Amino acid sequence: QAGLLYFGAATDTPYQRERAPYPESYPQYDAILRDPNEFGQTTPTNGQKWLFIEPEPRLFNFTEGDYVADLAQETGKLLRCHALVWHSQLAPWVESTNWTAEALTSAITRHIRAVAGYYRGRCYAWDVVNEALDEDGTYRKSIFYNVLGEDYIKLAFRVAAEVDPAAKLYYNDYGIERPNSNKTAGAKRLVKMLKDAGVRIDGVGMQAHLHADNHPSAEDLIQTSKGYAELVKEVAFTELDVRIKMPVNDTKLEWQKEGYQKVVTACVKVKACVGITIWDFYDPFSWVPHVFEGQGASLLWFEDFSKHPAYDGMVQTF
Ligand code: XIL
Repeated sequence: QAGLLYFGAATDTPYQRERAPYPESYPQYDAILRDPNEFGQTTPTNGQKWLFIEPEPRLFNFTEGDYVADLAQETGKLLRCHALVWHSQLAPWVESTNWTAEALTSAITRHIRAVAGYYRGRCYAWDVVNEALDEDGTYRKSIFYNVLGEDYIKLAFRVAAEVDPAAKLYYNDYGIERPNSNKTAGAKRLVKMLKDAGVRIDGVGMQAHLHADNHPSAEDLIQTSKGYAELVKEVAFTELDVRIKMPVNDTKLEWQKEGYQKVVTACVKVKACVGITIWDFYDPFSWVPHVFEGQGASLLWFEDFSKHPAYDGMVQTF
């Protein structure tokens, strides 16, 4: 893992995994997940999201998040924490309240204090704000933005910095992996906005949900990473997967391997790139087929626990 701080895989609690009715696969799955030679880092794919952590106002439930945080601790893995403020998988009460700016400010402050406070000292990094941008690089019109404008982003980072000073604070998004896209420009503007306001931000997380048949080149990924690194101390690939238009064949698996390898090449070459996280590692537990119809096989282990060519491809590239 030359130069990188970690290579990891995100995971979920057993009964939330995408195709939970596969309990027979759990022992084999868990052995790979826990193996320090496979993954030195993990992230809860769902457990720390607002929907699970504060499903009702002031009713906090850390059970789902703890499953992965405890697993990280037991197995000596770094923990990336995900995500404090996000428009999706938000508790319905947040969405349905008719907020004044003041009340929403208190609700966000209370949420971050409770969650980042509870996990204080255990998160290598926090995705403080997730997916605040639209495809064209302007702000996404979420409940947070509609009530507070870009102030909600400053607020979230300020409160997180206050509550867990040791955690690296990240802005995280998808589609910000190419150097010249409007969304990448938007992400840089967002970071600058925080810095101009004197708010601490330590990193940019590129989710990197890529396509086997059309992924950025290593040069592009390097250029993008270096662009962020001019503004923040670190960058990371936080949710890497490379999806295939089904059915799988050798050619598509080869394209997929190249996609994974390009991310490794880029992260190894850019000093500020601290690590790579794949968004789970076992195809049956991937989110991809549930969201992108006709696509799948995006991770490193097939359903029968044989490995994709991308596995050895990555190992050789490190
Ligand atoms: C996904 C989870 O993997 C799924 O289990 C869930 O149903 C939806 O969310 N961007 C993110 C992640 O930041 O939190 C998302 O995770 C995938 C896209």
